[in-house]
Amino acid sequence: MAEREGNIVPEDEIARQETFMHSVRELDPGADRKYFIHTFGCQMNENDSEKLAGMLESMGYRRSGDPEECDLILFNTCCVREHAEQKVYGHLGRLKPLKARRPGLVIAICGCMMQQEEVVEHILEKYSHVDLIFGTHNIHRFPELLYRAVTGHSPVTDISSGDGLIAEGLPIRREHGVKAWLTIMYGCDNFCSYCIVPYVRGRERSRRMADIIDEARLLGRQGYREITLLGQNVNSYGLDMDDGSSFAALLRSLEEVDGIERIRFMTSHPKDLSEELILAMRDCSKVCEHLHLPVQAGSNRILAEMNRKYTREQYFGLVDRVRDKIPGISITTDIIVGFPGETDEDFEQTLDLVERVRFDYAYTFLYSRRTGTPAAKKAGQVSEEAKKKRFDELLKLQNGISAEINAKLAGTVAEILVEGPSKNNIRMMTGRTRTNKIVNFAGDPGLAGKLVDVRIERTGTWSLDGTLV
Ligand code: SAH
Ligand code: SF4
Ligand code: F3S
Repeated sequence: MAEREGNIVPEDEIARQETFMHSVRELDPGADRKYFIHTFGCQMNENDSEKLAGMLESMGYRRSGDPEECDLILFNTCCVREHAEQKVYGHLGRLKPLKARRPGLVIAICGCMMQQEEVVEHILEKYSHVDLIFGTHNIHRFPELLYRAVTGHSPVTDISSGDGLIAEGLPIRREHGVKAWLTIMYGCDNFCSYCIVPYVRGRERSRRMADIIDEARLLGRQGYREITLLGQNVNSYGLDMDDGSSFAALLRSLEEVDGIERIRFMTSHPKDLSEELILAMRDCSKVCEHLHLPVQAGSNRILAEMNRKYTREQYFGLVDRVRDKIPGISITTDIIVGFPGETDEDFEQTLDLVERVRFDYAYTFLYSRRTGTPAAKKAGQVSEEAKKKRFDELLKLQNGISAEINAKLAGTVAEILVEGPSKNNIRMMTGRTRTNKIVNFAGDPGLAGKLVDVRIERTGTWSLDGTLV
C-alpha cells in the first residue's frame, strides 16, 4: 500500500495546482477567454485532453470550435507513426501568421511526441511561436505551466523522463454525454520492436481499483451509460500491484456499478489474455461481446521479430476459446504490413490468418520506422511501393469479410445504445450494437442515452442501417 501511495501525485501538489488555477483565473477575471484543443492519436490521448479541457474550464476558459478566435490553442500529439507527426508540424506551421497578428495567443503543445528530445529541440528551433511544451508524465502541472507561460518568458518547457505519477481527482470535461473513457493504467512494458509507445509513455502503472470504481460510480450518477476502460494492455492491469488486483476482478466489480449499462475495454495483448478474463467476460452481463485483439502479423517469424511473444497457432487457439465461451462475439484487430524483412511469403501468412479468423474489422497500418525502436535498425526495410501494394490487398480482403459478416445481420434485431444524431446525416440517429457495430436509424434526438431495439435492414462494410422496433 505504501508503495502505491508513492505512485500517486501527493494531495498537496494537487492543491498547489489548484492555487495556480485560481491565479490564472485572477489574471484577467472578467475576460472571455477561449480555448481549442486538437487531439491526435489514441483514446488515451483523448482522455488526457478531456482532463486538460477540465483544467482549462476551471481556469475560466471556454471551449470554442474556431481556433482563429481563441486565446489558447493546445495540440495533444501522437508519434506512433510518422504520418501523425507530420500532421502536427503542418498545423503548427499554419499558426505562425495567426500568432504574428495576435501575440497574446498562447500556443501549447504536449503529448507523446514531446517525450522525444529531438522533437522538442526541433520545435524550439523551427517553431518559435510555440509558448509552452510539456510531455505525457506531468499533465497535472498544466495550470502552473500555463501561468508561467502567460506571465513569464516563453517558451516554457517541462518534460520529465521518469514514469510519471498517477494524478487522481483532476477536473474533467468529457467529449460525449453517453459514453466515457476511463483510463485504468498508464504506460506499457511490452516493447514490441516496432513501437515507440513504451519510450514515450513509460512503464506500466495501474490505478487503484477503488479509484477506478469511484470514477465509474460517478459516471453512472452523471448519466453515462457506457464506459470504455483504457490501457495499452489492459490484460496486465494490476500485475504491478501486490494486492490481488487483476483485470478480471476489476470487470466483476464494475459489473455492480449502478447506471452503467455497458462496459468495453481496449487494448488486449494476446499473450496476456487469460482464461480467467474470458470467463469474467462471459459472466458479466454488462461487458459487451466485442474483443479488440491486435494480431499485428500472421507469420511466426515476423511475430517473433516483432517481440509479440505468441505464435499464429496460439492466436488461433485464443480466438477459438473466446468464440466458444462467448458466442456471437465480434473480434477486431490491428495489423501492420511491411515490417522490416517481411517477405511475400510472410505477407501471405497474414492474408491466410485474416481469412481463417474472419475478423469483424481490422485496423491496418503501413509499418512506420520509429527512431529509437529496435525495428528501425533492422536490415531489409520494405520499400514504400511494396508496402502499399500489400496494404491494398489486405484491405480488400478484410473489407470483403467485414461486408459478408455484416450482411448476415440483415433482418435481425439488435440492442443499440443511442449516442445522438449521426454526423453524416443530421436527420438520422446513430448508436452501436453490443458488438460495437455502428447502426443508423430514423429516430428522435431525445433517444440519446437510451437502449433501443433496432431491426437491421441494410448492411455495409462499416455500418448498418435499421428501423426502431
Ligand atoms: N497497445 C495497443 C495499441 C498501440 S498503438 C496494442 O498493443 O495493441 C495502435 C496500433 O498502432 C498498434 O496495434 C499497431 O498495429 C500500430 N503501430 C504501432 N507502432 C507502429 C509502427 N511503428 N508502424 C505502424 N503501425 C504501428
Ligand atoms: Fe506498443 Fe506493443 Fe505496447 Fe501495444 S503492447 S503499446 S504495440 S509496445
Ligand atoms: Fe499515439 Fe501516444 Fe497513443 S504515441 S497511439 S497518442 S499512446
